[in-house]
Amino acid sequence: MSALPNAHEALLKNRDLIVGRLALIGLSDTSLLSDLPGGGLALTDHAGVFARTPALNGWQMAFGYDDTALQGNAANTVVVFLPKARAELAFRLALAGYLAAAGARLILIGEKREGIAGAVKQLKAVAPEASKVDSARHCQVWLADSFATAGGFDLEHWMSWHIVDAAGVQVSVAGLPGIFSDGEPDHGTLMLLQTLADLPLPRGHSLDFACGSGVIGSWIQAWQRAGGTEPAPIDAVDVQSQAVICTRATYQKNQTLGDVLASDGLAAVTRKYRAIVTNPPFHAGVRTDTTMTEQFLRQAAAHLQPGGELRLVANSFLPYEALIRRTIGPVTRLASDKRFTVYSAKRQT
Ligand SMILES: C[S@@+](CC[C@H](N)C(=O)[O-])C[C@H]1O[C@@H](n2cnc3c(N)ncnc32)[C@H](O)[C@@H]1O
Repeated sequence: MSALPNAHEALLKNRDLIVGRLALIGLSDTSLLSDLPGGGLALTDHAGVFARTPALNGWQMAFGYDDTALQGNAANTVVVFLPKARAELAFRLALAGYLAAAGARLILIGEKREGIAGAVKQLKAVAPEASKVDSARHCQVWLADSFATAGGFDLEHWMSWHIVDAAGVQVSVAGLPGIFSDGEPDHGTLMLLQTLADLPLPRGHSLDFACGSGVIGSWIQAWQRAGGTEPAPIDAVDVQSQAVICTRATYQKNQTLGDVLASDGLAAVTRKYRAIVTNPPFHAGVRTDTTMTEQFLRQAAAHLQPGGELRLVANSFLPYEALIRRTIGPVTRLASDKRFTVYSAKRQT
C-alpha cells in the first residue's frame, strides 16, 4: 500500500486530466513526482519536503511563494492541493492564476475532512464553471477549463501588518495567509514575552526556533533597545515558507539583527547559542502532534553553549517537562495558567 497523502493519490488516479506543462501548488510528498507524466514545476511551502527532493528529470522544484522559479503564464495545467488554512486557498488560487497560460486547466483536490466541499465557493469565485470530476481516496477532484489568468502575483499585496504589544514594548509583525496566529499574537507567545521581560535571557547570540512571523526575536531586541542595551543577534528558523518570508519582513521593519533560515527542525542550524527561545509546533494538520517538538528537545542541547538557556512555552497539558529535564537540565516553571506553561532550563556543563 502506498503512503502517499490521499490528495496526491487522487491526482495519480486522475493523471489523464493533465494536459501540457504542469504546475503543482502545495506538494507535500515528492514521491508523487516520478509517477506523473512529463515533469513540470512543483511548489512546496515545507522546507523539509523541499530539502528531501531528489533531482528528478523534467521537474523544477520551488520552495514557497517567493521562489524565483515561479514564472507567470507558463503552465497549461495547474493543480492546487487544498491547504489546511482557508485563507491560504485564496493565496494558492491567485498564484495558480499567475502561473497559468491562456486557456489553462485548473484542478483543485482536497480531502473531505479538510473541507473541500466548503472550499468550492472560493474556487467558483475564480473559476465559475468549475465542476466536480471525481471522488476518490476521501477527496474530491474539481476541474475548470480556460481558467482565467491574473496579471501578476505580488506578495506585498497579500502581506498584512499588526502590532504586538507586550510589557510596554511594541513591534510591527508581518502576516501572510497560512501563517500561525495571523493578525493577532498567540496567548502563549504573549506569556513567553512577559517572562522575557521579567527574567531576560542570558545576553549573547540566541535562536528563535519555529519563529512563525518573527515576533519573538523582534520583540526581544526591541525590549533590549528600550532598556538602553545594545541588542544581541537572534537567528530565526521555521519550516514554512510564509514564516520565513514574514520573519524577514518583520526583522527588516524592526531592524532586528539575526539570520533567518528555512529549516525542518534544527537541520539547517549549525551554531551553538547562549539561548534558544521557542513557542514550538504542536500540530500536524488538524491533529495534536508532539513528535516534532520532542525531536527538537532531543537535539537542542547540542545547539546550546554550556550554561545556555532553553526558554519554551507550550500548552500546559503537553508532556515536555520531563524530557527537558532529561535533555537539557533542571527545569523551572516561570509562568503557568490553565492553557500554557513557560519552562526554563539551563544546559549543564
Ligand atoms: C506555535 S507556532 C509559533 C510561531 C511563533 N514563534 C509565535 O510564537 O507566534 C509554531 C511554528 O512552528 C513551525 N514549525 C512546524 N513544524 C516545524 C518544523 N519541523 N521545523 C521548524 N518549524 C516548524 C510552524 O510553521 C509555526 O510557525
